[in-house]
Amino acid sequence: MARLLVDKSPPLRGTVRISGSKNSVLPILAATLLAEEKSIIEEIPRLQDVSIMQALLESVGAKTYWNENTMEINVNTLTQYEAPYELVRQMRASFLIMGPLLARLGRTRIPLPGGCAIGSRPVDLHLKGFAALGAEITQERGYVQAKADKLIGAKVYLDFPSVGATENIMMAGVLAEGQTVIENAAVEPEVVDLANYLNAMGALIRGAGTDTIKIVGVPSLRGVTHSIIPDRIEAGTFMAAAAITGGDLYLENVLSIHLNPVIAKFKEANIQVEETENGLHIFSQGDIQGTDIKTLPYPGFPTDMQAQLMSLMSIAKGNSVITETIFENRFMHVAELNRMGADIKIEGRTAIINGVPILTGTQVRASDLRAGAALILAGLIAEGTTEIQDIYHIERGYDNIEEKLRKVGARIQRIDI
Ligand code: UD1
Repeated sequence: MARLLVDKSPPLRGTVRISGSKNSVLPILAATLLAEEKSIIEEIPRLQDVSIMQALLESVGAKTYWNENTMEINVNTLTQYEAPYELVRQMRASFLIMGPLLARLGRTRIPLPGGCAIGSRPVDLHLKGFAALGAEITQERGYVQAKADKLIGAKVYLDFPSVGATENIMMAGVLAEGQTVIENAAVEPEVVDLANYLNAMGALIRGAGTDTIKIVGVPSLRGVTHSIIPDRIEAGTFMAAAAITGGDLYLENVLSIHLNPVIAKFKEANIQVEETENGLHIFSQGDIQGTDIKTLPYPGFPTDMQAQLMSLMSIAKGNSVITETIFENRFMHVAELNRMGADIKIEGRTAIINGVPILTGTQVRASDLRAGAALILAGLIAEGTTEIQDIYHIERGYDNIEEKLRKVGARIQRIDI
């Protein structure tokens, strides 16, 4: 079992290169199943979640090859319409292969997904979309099955702009007959990256990035080369690392437009952020100020940055209120931060943070990916050593985080016990 030991660190200084986006690469790898030819995906972050998606692709008949951060995927014949429970239970995003398998094979059977412990996270909107396109959906013994002799384009209204449902329905719609319209669609940059990839393959998708996506079905798609967009959440996490240590970091390979809501909050908290063409420069001047934050679908403040900002606010001057509107039960890091000396109270979906001057290192547990990142951040400024357990959550979604942090001065090491 591995753990991370984080010691109080000096202000971080230097340059960090941000990797490709986890939330972009997962749907795009799933979408490679839609082409009968070779696809090449570049700028892939090396993550546990990517390995799970790779194994899923292989399990249904794809052949995959790595060359550094590029993966070549050959999907001449799909041999399976079913995904193995052993893989799906490890990652909720496994469900994203449902749309492509249904579109290619007219049939698929997937175990209901597991994933992070951040609320119930149903998949009803994905299934509502497949049903609207004419699929017959049945559920039995923890599996969901979808069947359709032919998918037919239709109008789908999402009750909530779910990222995964928008992506899954889009992937099913590209090979359907006629026009599919997704209303109240998610507008996240990762949805746009997927649409750009699908359009390069020959799909006809308009409106990705707005709340109405129109897809005209085509008979087949071709294999192409695509480069994944930079990970806005990894960038935001390193922004927080610079800020919390009072450091000065330059982040390379960032599309700062995707970070507008995060940058706005950093500036409100008295952290200096300068945008350059391909990156961001973050440095601290004076105290961090308490700031109120409410998570919302894009272009609102991302739920995936909520825990990291909580660490930052825990040592800020004054009080902050953080409201989580996307996921229920996404405050599991609060108890761990309080064990480190933070003063945070939860009232329903709101956390009230009273900034404290110091945190103290102790043993803590990463309850999910971003909670784990928040504990690393807290560990960087806590007195003494912070020992983080269950770090497999962190490794699921951050590409080499401890090495990247160490290079800019963090005192962090991974130990195997
Ligand atoms: C994606 C991201 C995740 C991020 C989240 C919200 C990936 C791989 N993961 O997750 O990092 O935190 O977006 O930005 O891209 N919901 C339903 N029914 C559904 C689907 C979702 O009720 O069928 C609810 C969920 O329970 C949740 C909310 O909608 O409360 C948002 O979920 P969704 O946007 O679907 O998130 P994911 O795609 O799972």
